[in-house]
Amino acid sequence: MALESVEPATKSTGARFFRRVASLLLPIVISLVTARAESGHDAWLRYAPIHDASVLQKYDRIVVLGETEVLQSAGTELARGLQSMLGRTLPLQKEMSSGAIVLGILPSLPKQLRNRLLAPATDGYLLKTTTMQGRRVLLVAGANDRGVTYGVFALLRHVALHQTLDALDERQNPSASIRWTNEWDNLDGSIERGYGGRSIFFSAGNVLPELSKVRDYARLLASVGINGCVVNNVNADTRILTSEFIPQLARLANVFRTWGVRLAIAVDFASPKTVGGLNTFDPQDPAVIAWWQRKSDEIYRVIPDLGGFLMKADSEGRSGPSAYGRTHAQAANVIARALKPYGGVLIYRAFVYNHHLDWNDLKADRARAAYDNFASLDGSFDDNAVVQIKYGPIDFQVREPVSPLIGALRHTNQVLELQITQEYTGQQRHLCFLAPMWKEIFDFDLHANGGNTPVGEIASGRTFHRPVGGFVGVADVGQDENWLGFDLAQANLYAFGRLAWNPALSARQTIEQWTHLTFGDDPKVNKTIVEMQLESWPVYEKYTGSPLGLQSLTNIVGDHFSPGPESADRNGWGQWIRADHLGVGMDRTSGTGTGFIGQYSPPVAGYYESLRTCPDNLLLFFHHVPYTYVLHSGKSVIQTIFDSHYEGADEAQGFSSRWKSLEGRIDDTRFRAVLSRLEYQAEQAKLWRDTINGWFFSLSAIADAKGRIGATVPHS
Ligand code: GCU
Repeated sequence: MALESVEPATKSTGARFFRRVASLLLPIVISLVTARAESGHDAWLRYAPIHDASVLQKYDRIVVLGETEVLQSAGTELARGLQSMLGRTLPLQKEMSSGAIVLGILPSLPKQLRNRLLAPATDGYLLKTTTMQGRRVLLVAGANDRGVTYGVFALLRHVALHQTLDALDERQNPSASIRWTNEWDNLDGSIERGYGGRSIFFSAGNVLPELSKVRDYARLLASVGINGCVVNNVNADTRILTSEFIPQLARLANVFRTWGVRLAIAVDFASPKTVGGLNTFDPQDPAVIAWWQRKSDEIYRVIPDLGGFLMKADSEGRSGPSAYGRTHAQAANVIARALKPYGGVLIYRAFVYNHHLDWNDLKADRARAAYDNFASLDGSFDDNAVVQIKYGPIDFQVREPVSPLIGALRHTNQVLELQITQEYTGQQRHLCFLAPMWKEIFDFDLHANGGNTPVGEIASGRTFHRPVGGFVGVADVGQDENWLGFDLAQANLYAFGRLAWNPALSARQTIEQWTHLTFGDDPKVNKTIVEMQLESWPVYEKYTGSPLGLQSLTNIVGDHFSPGPESADRNGWGQWIRADHLGVGMDRTSGTGTGFIGQYSPPVAGYYESLRTCPDNLLLFFHHVPYTYVLHSGKSVIQTIFDSHYEGADEAQGFSSRWKSLEGRIDDTRFRAVLSRLEYQAEQAKLWRDTINGWFFSLSAIADAKGRIGATVPHS
């Protein structure tokens, strides 16, 4: 129903005149309201007015069954959202009555009703129009408090997206128990690989005195089903575990708790020595074992619901069990056992590799490292220990095959690590919507159990019936009003949460929802943004790394942002592409190369090993071929590199002009901020195109068939 039709009828001429003027002005007023100043702070929780008086009109109050902080904030959120979208105030009440929206956990419902319901699993929820004690109600029921919160946000999303609310009967369970973000915040307030300003948690060695931004962040996380957050850098500062610091962490946990988000922290493996003053951190030493237990006891006394610890050990210069000849499982288990009495988990990262590899050794291969270090330990981790595996075997590149370790851990809990912060994918200064990439990863069948074992299923723990599993996204939000420095990059945070909850959602569904919630109803705005977002990852890939599996080709020894193909080779980091004047690509075959391909199950290994079946988009990740090698597409490698960079750069030019066509349809603040990023991206894309093409042209001395390159880049 349109807003005009609820205006009271009146008969006087003056009033008629007034109504006429008002009806002429109304659309302008509405557009001014919708084009109100937007900072991006509310992200997808803007609750813009929807001008439809019929929505939920049968309900006029909210009844919250229970007193907990989480339930209370869920009730308040529902009232706030409905007030903002529908312009109606639904009072929060305790007594049941007809026409109530009832919020509660299952055990708080009358037995008769409960018996009629199919109970949701932990963190799951039900939305159902039903009767309760003879009264007509809309029920938002959760298996636990957190489930109620998720149900409330789902209901608000339905309202905001104009989805039908009649005869609601929806039951949703999350895919997995761990749906966490990792924040790489340092205690001094800087953020490793963060592009949205300073830390919202820490400054000058302490937790910030004022935590309203943390509260708002926890609300955003809860709205997409995220239930845990590691607040400090994986390259952990040892002070996090000091007795002076722990009470400060409790302040963060208190804020998170309101929204059902569990605090977790990254800890350093050498802490028994550096913090505890012991002369060892050997995980088998009884004094070390006792220290970890005492430390857990101390933390859980003030943070009883701490999610657990995250550990980066023996990686990029961090201490680890190798110092004492112990295994990663021994290291993980000693800490997991200390957390177990409290229900905490120890998450141990599989990102372990030697960053002093010998470039001259043709068998050396960083891609092998995670599997080589962890596969043989399968089955030796405790039940509350979890191995966190990056999606690819290298490091968050624009394209990588999925990590073979994911299919190899069958008797060990694992979680899949994705990156929301765009470290190697444009650092929030380039548009790069990552959900299409994540979906390819989730859907990839590793044939780990004979077939039909997509990564999303394995990670969620279902394939191998693991007690714990899930998804972790490195988010790195900051103090910038819009959290990530770029309004359009918020889509990655939204999509991560929604896909961690339900990996079966499509990238398109996710971005359509996000766009509508974030920018409103205008069909042109929606169509334009959805299409740009969905195209953005392939476009970025084309003008940076090339669509042949060459990784990102950023400057890997510097900023991980600007073009730096020469930095890939001839160093110990192992992000090699082995480009010389004859050919390019890493030979990772079992036949003649590093043998990495042999880490996959036979059907997958066979597929990558053979040039006949290896897909073009990963060819150079797995094979070293001459520049003249002809792809399945019928084009040579070198010409594909040249063409894709032109194509990608051209497409990137189009983003800013498409965005400009939305002028006046989007609030000015976000319109301008996004435009300036897209214009910058357009220039950067040309720089990328010319740098990469020039570099390959100099190296290969093969002319571009279309004659575009030799003219500008001298052949050295
Ligand atoms: C990347 C990133 C580092 C980070 C590391 C990790 O290499 O550049 O900043 O510490 O990943 O995931 O541990």
